[in-house]
Amino acid sequence: MNDRSTDTVLAPTIDVHLGSDDASKALREDVTAGLTTQPKELPPKWFYDERGSALFDEITRLDEYYPTEAEREILLQRAPEIIDLVAPETIVELGSGTSDKTKAVLDAARVRGTMRRFVPFDVSEAFLRTSAIDLAERYPGLVVHGVVGDFDHHLPYLPTGDRQLLMLLGGTLGNYRPDDRLAFLSAIASRQSAGDHVLIGIDLVKDVGRLERAYDDASGVTAAFNKNVLHVVNRELQANFDIDRFQHVARFDLENEWIEMLLRSDGEQVVEVSDLNLAVTFSDGELMRTEVSAKFRQPAFEAELSQVGLDPVAWWTDQAGDFAVSLSRQS
Ligand code: SAH
Ligand code: TRP
Repeated sequence: MNDRSTDTVLAPTIDVHLGSDDASKALREDVTAGLTTQPKELPPKWFYDERGSALFDEITRLDEYYPTEAEREILLQRAPEIIDLVAPETIVELGSGTSDKTKAVLDAARVRGTMRRFVPFDVSEAFLRTSAIDLAERYPGLVVHGVVGDFDHHLPYLPTGDRQLLMLLGGTLGNYRPDDRLAFLSAIASRQSAGDHVLIGIDLVKDVGRLERAYDDASGVTAAFNKNVLHVVNRELQANFDIDRFQHVARFDLENEWIEMLLRSDGEQVVEVSDLNLAVTFSDGELMRTEVSAKFRQPAFEAELSQVGLDPVAWWTDQAGDFAVSLSRQS
């Protein structure tokens, strides 16, 4: 083991690829498309402004929301094995958020002494900055290079090679619908060099009651998180959504095996989005889609990996079998 105790703390660098102009253009396009189609839909990346990121952090601590602790259990148990298999020089984390569970893997990598650089990537700049500073202090000598961007546009700005370990935790992959998910996985895989690895955390199909409670907690934090997208649209596009007249709905779709998050209009109402010159009518009880969270089974998931050219290497679950972490390799 290298003795790194004398290494100095390196100031993190942060590249911001999400100029506020790009972001507002993308938001305008998404909201225009989403509110003029049937069923109406608002895309989930707009959940994560500063308030949204803080609410998500609160979700991860709810009793009902089991995925965070289940994934932590797996990572704590398997990190040494993962690092032995991969021996990464660079670790990239997509949708890093607070990178809290990631520390289990970074701790193991530091012990092994191969890790040189950590690259967290997130659409939420405030959270990325805070966690980059925290990680640089925790791991003296580690190069922390944060990238602020959108999965759908800015993957090309991420480093490649270096026996890279690319992580995508928290079930974030499940927030894509199947076609988009395959395109996203394929974009990830096509950037990997031979010998690079991909570590993905996914939630598993289980009892419907537990699933629905995880996305509709008794204290209403998830409801507030879901409705936060309306605050974002009100603020950014001068809209007048009456937040109290939309109800949070989370239900498991047995056919697609995903949790669907919706907002239900309480009564008929017209919402004006001034910046888009748009007036949108909601009928009483109309459901607007906001997010899906797909639940997986091992065979189908590993078939998807193979489809994009990633070879499954390992599959680990927590003791209770609620959540899985999959390791795959670019051949
Ligand atoms: N990895 C953390 C956070 C998961 S929440 C955990 O496991 O707890 C999903 C994260 O992905 C959030 O931090 C959010 O800001 C980020 N995110 C969501 N959509 C994104 C997108 N399109 N591009 C980049 N980051 C995105
Ligand atoms: N990746 C998380 C998940 O699918 C995101 C999430 C948790 C979420 N709770 C939510 C998204 C509620 C929207 C609404 O579990």
